[in-house]
Amino acid sequence: MTIRTATLNKVLTIEIARPEKKNALTQAMYTAMAAALEAANTDAGVRAVLITGQPGIFTSGNDIDDFMQRPPSLGRDGEDTPVTRFMHALLDCDKPVVAAVTGAAVGIGTTLLLHCDLVYVSDEARLAMPFVSLGLVPEYASSLVLPALIGHVKAAEKLMLGEPFTGSDAVDCGIANAVLPAGEVVNHARRMAERFNTLAPGAVADTKRLMRAPQRARIREVMAAEGALFGQRLRSPEATEAFQAFFQKRKPDFSKF
Ligand code: COA
Repeated sequence: MTIRTATLNKVLTIEIARPEKKNALTQAMYTAMAAALEAANTDAGVRAVLITGQPGIFTSGNDIDDFMQRPPSLGRDGEDTPVTRFMHALLDCDKPVVAAVTGAAVGIGTTLLLHCDLVYVSDEARLAMPFVSLGLVPEYASSLVLPALIGHVKAAEKLMLGEPFTGSDAVDCGIANAVLPAGEVVNHARRMAERFNTLAPGAVADTKRLMRAPQRARIREVMAAEGALFGQRLRSPEATEAFQAFFQKRKPDFSKF
């Protein structure tokens, strides 16, 4: 089992559990997470969702072998791809979504945080969106949301240089709410998620919809533009070199491009 789900005390937990591959996300895992979010959205017994990983690792992002073997053919924003179904389910979730970032959060592991409501980060966490290092481009509106949140030059460090950053940096940037000791981050995030149990669920959902409404259409447009480019770049010689380098445990050589 690579995605574990359980509802306890009105909080649906989605736990990424593939530690032997650093919680890399396969198409089947995106499908499982999408289905869990979609079900939570209409389940009156769920007041909030908690997304978490394993000790030391939140997720290393998309499974790079999946990128090589099964690159989506119609652009990454195609409704039919499991990753897009998952990201749309996250974007459309009216219930509060809380993330407990238990360790490294790479690629979509950081991108998805931009669409959560409350984010708690372990003091061991390292976040990164190293798309350029893989010959790729930002995804799921991170090229819109991140510069809007932290300004162009700070976003350029993270998206154009692909520089990793700490949990404290994430808090300073407004990506995360707080840094917690590694052993406490999940329990803290769970307690925060459980706070919604005593609040009026309709008012919480309407508040979330209002907060998201001004950007919603623009986010979808940018997601589509990024997705089309992402699909092309997955097949580019630059990306092929980067994926091969990853599995050969060497640095990619972009000098020939
Ligand atoms: N896709 C597929 N396999 C992955 C993976 C990914 N995204 N991330 C890690 N793995 C695999 C490794 O290939 C390795 O497999 P092996 O044991 O069969 O050789 C195993 O998981 C352990 O990874 P390793 O790199 O040895 O662990 P680490 O602790 O040294 O580093 C990370 C952890 C997360 C920093 C590192 O694995 C990493 O950078 N992963 C890729 C991140 C990435 O570029 N994601 C895509 C973003 S779009």
